[in-house]
Amino acid sequence: MVSRSQINGLRVAVLTGGGDCPGLNAAIRSVAKTLMLTANAEIIGIEDGFLGFIERRVRTLSYQECSGIQSLGGTIIGTNNRANPFDYKGKDCSAQVKQYYDELGLDALVVIGGDGSLSIGYELTKLGMNIVGVPKTIDNDLMCTERTFGFDTAVSIVTEAIDRLRTTGQSHKRIMIVETMGRNAGWIALHGGIAGGADSILIPEHPYDIKQVAKVCQERMGALHFSIVVVAEGARPADGDICVRETISDSPEPKRLGGIGEQLKHELSAYVDAEIRATTLGHTQRGGSPTSFDRIFATNLGSYAARLVANQQFNCAVILKGNRLSHVPLERVANKTRFIPDDDLTLQTAVSMGICFGTDALVHPNISTTNEPE
Ligand code: F6P
Repeated sequence: MVSRSQINGLRVAVLTGGGDCPGLNAAIRSVAKTLMLTANAEIIGIEDGFLGFIERRVRTLSYQECSGIQSLGGTIIGTNNRANPFDYKGKDCSAQVKQYYDELGLDALVVIGGDGSLSIGYELTKLGMNIVGVPKTIDNDLMCTERTFGFDTAVSIVTEAIDRLRTTGQSHKRIMIVETMGRNAGWIALHGGIAGGADSILIPEHPYDIKQVAKVCQERMGALHFSIVVVAEGARPADGDICVRETISDSPEPKRLGGIGEQLKHELSAYVDAEIRATTLGHTQRGGSPTSFDRIFATNLGSYAARLVANQQFNCAVILKGNRLSHVPLERVANKTRFIPDDDLTLQTAVSMGICFGTDALVHPNISTTNEPE
C-alpha cells in the first residue's frame, strides 16, 4: 500500500525493465537518494518492470532500503523482459497503465532500461506520462550513448572466462570457442575478445566465412597448438542464418539468440584437424556484482536522471557522449540498435593486430593518428 508521506515533495516512480544487468541497484540508489535529498521526493518502486504497472504492484522505497545496494547484482525491485503494456497477452493495456500512473499521483517515472524498455517509455510519453530513461544493458547497443552500464561487468566476466579457457585449451592443444551474449551487436564479443586475447572474433556486424576462420585456427594450431575463437550470439555464417534459441511472441524482443558456438564447432570440424570445445557463457555475463566502473557509471547516470526530474525535463534519456553526460529525446533512442561501426577504434585496433573477423571487409585499416592541439 502506497501512502503519500511527503506533502509538497515530488512523487517519482522508478522501474527496471528488460533483462537485468549489474549496476541496476547502484542506479536505483542514486535516483532515489538524489531525489529524496534534492526534491524531498517520495520514491515508488514499480515491481518487475512494466508488469508491476499492469498488475498494480508497487511499493514505497525507503532511504534505508536504497542504501548500500550498489554492490548487489540484479535489481531490488525485480524486472521482466516480456511485459509490454502495448501488447500484453494479446491486449493493449497502455491506457490502464496511464490510469494507474495518474491514480498514484506520479510526477514522473524513471525507466532504467535498454532498447525495449526505453521504446515502451517513449510510447507512454505520448499518453502524457513524464518519463526519463537511464540506459542499461550488458549489450552496449543503445543508440546515442557511447556506453551503457552493465557492459563493463559483462566484458570482465568474458575476459576472466577466456583466461581460464586459455590454460585448459593450451594444455589439451584444442580450439576453444567462447559464445558471448550481445543480441544483434558484437560489443561484448569484441571487447571481451580483445581483453582475453582471442585469435578470431566473430560479430553480427560482419557475417563470417568459415574457411577464413578455419585457416586462422589451423595456423594458430601449427604455431601455438591452441586457438581461442570468440563468437557473439548474433553472429552468423555468410551463407547462413542467426541461431534463435527461443521465440517469445509477446515480448518487446521476441527472438532470444543462442547456439552459434556449437554450430561453429561443427562447421570448423569439417576444415580443421583438431579437438574443438565450445563454451556458452550465457547468463553468467549478467549475474553478480558490478565492477567498480559500472557502479560509478550507473550512479552518475541515476543522479543525472534525478536532476532531470527535479528540473522537470522529461521524455528524454541520459547518454554518455565524449565522456560527458547529457540527454536526448527518448525518440532518438527508441526502436534502434547501435552496431559496431567499421571505423570503431577497438575494431580497427583488432584488425590492425591481425585478429580474424572471418571477412575480407575489414582488412588493413588506414591507421590515422591525431596530434592533440596545445
Ligand atoms: O539484452 C540482454 C541479454 O542478456 C542479451 O545479451 C541476450 O540476448 C538476452 O538478454 C537474453 O535474454 P533472456 O534472459 O530472456 O534469455
